[in-house]
Amino acid sequence: MKFFVDTAEIDAIAELNELGMVDGVTTNPSLIMKSGRDILEVTKEICDLVSGPVSAEVVATEADAMIAEGRKLAEIAENIAVKVPLTWDGLKACKVLSGEGRMVNVTLCFSANQALLAAKAGASFISPFIGRLDDVNLDGLQLIEDIRSIYDNYGFETEILAASIRTVNHITECAKIGADVITAPPAVIKAMASHPLTDKGLATFMADWAKTGQKIL
Ligand code: G3P
Repeated sequence: MKFFVDTAEIDAIAELNELGMVDGVTTNPSLIMKSGRDILEVTKEICDLVSGPVSAEVVATEADAMIAEGRKLAEIAENIAVKVPLTWDGLKACKVLSGEGRMVNVTLCFSANQALLAAKAGASFISPFIGRLDDVNLDGLQLIEDIRSIYDNYGFETEILAASIRTVNHITECAKIGADVITAPPAVIKAMASHPLTDKGLATFMADWAKTGQKIL
């Protein structure tokens, strides 16, 4: 399973990238706003750092304007995936941009039918938002499972990019279901390393080691 980092914070991306944990990056208008950076500048810096796909989102809502914005974003670097919303206009933009050989990430997906349309429009990635479905008492992980079945039934090559990941358990479950990619905030990826029994066991080892009076170096 590939790990994308859901942030526009350069330092956080760099830290995870050094450990080989970054297969790509996803951004959106809210994350750009949080970064306080210029979209073109920060996206270029991310692309210089990370060789995998870097999603940059259009903000137009009408297909022709989305296509124009998508082309401009794609000029930033070869690894840009143009992100478009799952609207009818977004699907039109997806069809045109993917037809030009560009990677397209169709975002704000909340149903299996939306995912089916994105695949037929040539999306490289479909981004179902797990956490936001859970927020309204729907089952985000069930949507990932449904899309996996549908794509496998028909051999669609669109990658399932599970987004709006809020917990480490979301990541475990996505891996079990067979999501191709998860995108998560840096803190959630780092939290995967934590376990209370690891902390407890380490504390015991350190206490016993101190009693030996030995040193390794
Ligand atoms: O990748 C989409 C993600 O940024 C949305 O996450 O937590 O705002 O629902 P969230």
